[in-house]
Amino acid sequence: MYAYKELLKNIEEKLNSFGKPEFSEPPEGMGDISTNIAFTIAKKEGKNPAEVARGIIERIEKPVMIEKVEASGPYVNFFIDYEKFSEKVLSEAVREDYGSSNYGGGKTIVIDYSHPNIAKPMHVGHMRSTVIGNSLYRMFKFLGFGVIGVNHLGDFGLQFGKLLYAFKEWGSEEELEKNPIDYLVGLYVRFHEVEEQNPELKEKAEEWQKRLENRDPEAKALWEKFRELSIQKFEKVYKRMGVVFDSYKGEAYYVFNGLTKEVIKQALEKKVAVKEDEETVVVPLEEYGLPNARLLENGRSLYITRDLAAAIDRKKEYDFYKNIYVVSNAQSLHFQQLFKILELLGYEWFKDCEHVKFGLFSLPEGRISTRKGRFVKLEEVLDAAVEKAQRVIEEKNPGLEKKEEVAEKVGIGAVKFADLSQNRIKDVVFDLDRMVSFEGDTGPYLQYAHVRCKSILRKAGEQKTEVDYSLIREKEEKQLVMKIAEFPEVVFKAATSYEPHQLAQYLLELAHLFSVFYEKHKVMGNALRVQIVRAVANVLKNGLYLLGIEALDEM
Ligand code: ARG
Repeated sequence: MYAYKELLKNIEEKLNSFGKPEFSEPPEGMGDISTNIAFTIAKKEGKNPAEVARGIIERIEKPVMIEKVEASGPYVNFFIDYEKFSEKVLSEAVREDYGSSNYGGGKTIVIDYSHPNIAKPMHVGHMRSTVIGNSLYRMFKFLGFGVIGVNHLGDFGLQFGKLLYAFKEWGSEEELEKNPIDYLVGLYVRFHEVEEQNPELKEKAEEWQKRLENRDPEAKALWEKFRELSIQKFEKVYKRMGVVFDSYKGEAYYVFNGLTKEVIKQALEKKVAVKEDEETVVVPLEEYGLPNARLLENGRSLYITRDLAAAIDRKKEYDFYKNIYVVSNAQSLHFQQLFKILELLGYEWFKDCEHVKFGLFSLPEGRISTRKGRFVKLEEVLDAAVEKAQRVIEEKNPGLEKKEEVAEKVGIGAVKFADLSQNRIKDVVFDLDRMVSFEGDTGPYLQYAHVRCKSILRKAGEQKTEVDYSLIREKEEKQLVMKIAEFPEVVFKAATSYEPHQLAQYLLELAHLFSVFYEKHKVMGNALRVQIVRAVANVLKNGLYLLGIEALDEM
């Protein structure tokens, strides 16, 4: 058990006979941990809280790692024995895996994230899902869960009928291979242009769509090619972003394997759905305050049908403990319908499904050229951030080696941090200039704090002098040790509430305390302080990793 938890547990044990304490931070000079347990007891027994507090002080045994216990009005305040505490905290915190645990005990969490649509560029709308999902992925692994990252690709729907038709009509293999996604977008646009004059094209598209659904070899082979080429392109972006997936089962999988048919059949049998006509199946949801959901329309499955099939399939395949969807809050209604239908179908585990939603992403007007396309490509945002990072580095540290590599990591880290440092429900405006700054609440600021730690440690050398923990006395040292001690709890809370921003905010606080400490106190030649710096560096490294950001040694 990590030091901080152990400390609280020690205190709790000693207070056992009085009740279950809640902890808070006392005002300066009044110790390190405070509880108002006396207040609760006094209220229950009609006594004076200050008296009760004094009574507790008289009777309580001193917990381990606590130096003294004092009553202050109704509060019972604990003063940490920083010699013992810092020794324990710092020796834990310099270990590579500091903050990790086996809390998950191998239970499986499925995370559905990123999920772009094939034959289209990944646009900024997919960025937040990719960044948040990846951070949750890393955090849950760190906590001992088996994590399955699923990229539920949008690879099915009438648009593929259109594409198949357009490609057969006007396409060229050679052009396709050259620049697949842009080429397919072009064909798609052309289809719509031609369709305006020739409305019968819609039927052609439907025909091709039917052929695809029926696994006609020609349609299927072509579609597979579009899909494969799209994934190759996506993977380049994922590689830059340090993102991985364990499954690329997209929407089409559930149609081709008959699982959508299966779920429709089930819904009808269980009388959850009704047939409106031969080609239309609906789940009435009005009584739950939700819009009705169509599972079949014109004989074709819908987005929600494929999600139902996918959820059932995931439960079978992974027997998940949690099944989470990192998707914009624009789809809230969809997920409410989805979970409701799973419940109506009798799947108890619908309770383990969760929509982890987030707000919109936008750019301040005019900062990035959206060219003529309707969407800003995710890659364009990354490139713009990297370019700006390059400029900042050029200005700050022109002599730096491997400037390009560093700029790539700083730029991408900046984008990720800007996203993760805010409450995910809120809309975010990406101000690239601010994001890449080395000062302020930014990713580069944290990377830079890590770089500073590393440079101090290099200068200190592999100083193996014994650390004398009894030397700890400065306020800034103690504050840092306390902050460092909190890291495992912060990771735990950030993950289990699906709130990476809790971790992001924590890291900013840590970096800030570090900078105050470093300004005030001489580190060189003081083994204890060097040890503190070593721990700060390690927490920054692990914390940044969990946000999907690379810690650098130089920048
Ligand atoms: N492909 C969809 C989109 O781009 C998101 C899919 C979300 N995941 C899911 N299982 N429905 O909007």
